[in-house]
Amino acid sequence: MNEILTDVTAGVMTITLNRVDKKNSITSAMYAAMADALMQAESDAAVRALVFQGHETIFSAGNDIGDFLNAPISTQDSPVFRFLRGISTFPKPVLAAVCGPAVGIGTTLLFHCDLVYAGDNAAFSMPFVNLGLCPEAASSYLAPQLMGYGRAAEALLLGEPFLAEAALEMGLISRIVPPSEAAALAQRQAQKLAAKPLTSLIETKRLMKKAQAAVVAERMVEEGTSLGRLLREPAAREAFTAFMEKRKPDFSKI
Ligand code: COA
Repeated sequence: MNEILTDVTAGVMTITLNRVDKKNSITSAMYAAMADALMQAESDAAVRALVFQGHETIFSAGNDIGDFLNAPISTQDSPVFRFLRGISTFPKPVLAAVCGPAVGIGTTLLFHCDLVYAGDNAAFSMPFVNLGLCPEAASSYLAPQLMGYGRAAEALLLGEPFLAEAALEMGLISRIVPPSEAAALAQRQAQKLAAKPLTSLIETKRLMKKAQAAVVAERMVEEGTSLGRLLREPAAREAFTAFMEKRKPDFSKI
């Protein structure tokens, strides 16, 4: 089955994570498919807005942990980084409908969306440290900017989840709705945007993002280098093996 579904209707490209049996965790092949879809959406004049969505019960459990264990990211050209560069520099409006858990990159990709509509069951988390890793998607910069350092430290150092109300208050999401309504709302808002003058949307988004664009790009490279190193270290290997063996990790000897 196709684990990334893409559809273009009425000027809106929708990218659906479709691996619900594995909680929409994202494999290297899925990042590659999403990176390709972003490139197509950027160059296709018929696409005027983009929507990411998962399922009403799960947005994404983040990076596939088996992939982390068996094929750790090796270069900045890895599909995950191609995808992150694509979404962080995407010039047209990007929306997301988020229900259920949004773990790791499931949360950090939202820092690069313009409008996020969340189900009231949404739960956001960035448990990189718990896995022996460090942030990606420039979240080490964008989370403190958005949340303030104190709340970012709870989210990034302790790996504590936060719920839709907190995400709304900090401005990560735009509205909370019943989970059954999130995808339809994102589509309606995307179609409103698709009917507006595209050049004006692109210019407005560029101006809003201008102050952070260079630091985001630079931070993503630095995070990628650190992540590539940490993925191979004993703490991460223990965390991934423990997840696969469905036990708690033991960091006491590391
Ligand atoms: N990578 C690979 N497989 C994953 C996965 C991931 N990130 N997240 C879930 N899965 C798999 C589980 O191994 C399980 O597979 P199985 O049925 O073959 O045993 C299946 O998806 C269902 O997951 P399960 O943990 O039983 O679902 P749940 O509803 O109890 O919990 C989550 C959902 C998202 C809270 C939980 O799966 C989770 O914490 N996942 C890991 C999140 C994570 O650390 N991601 C990396 C971030 S950098």
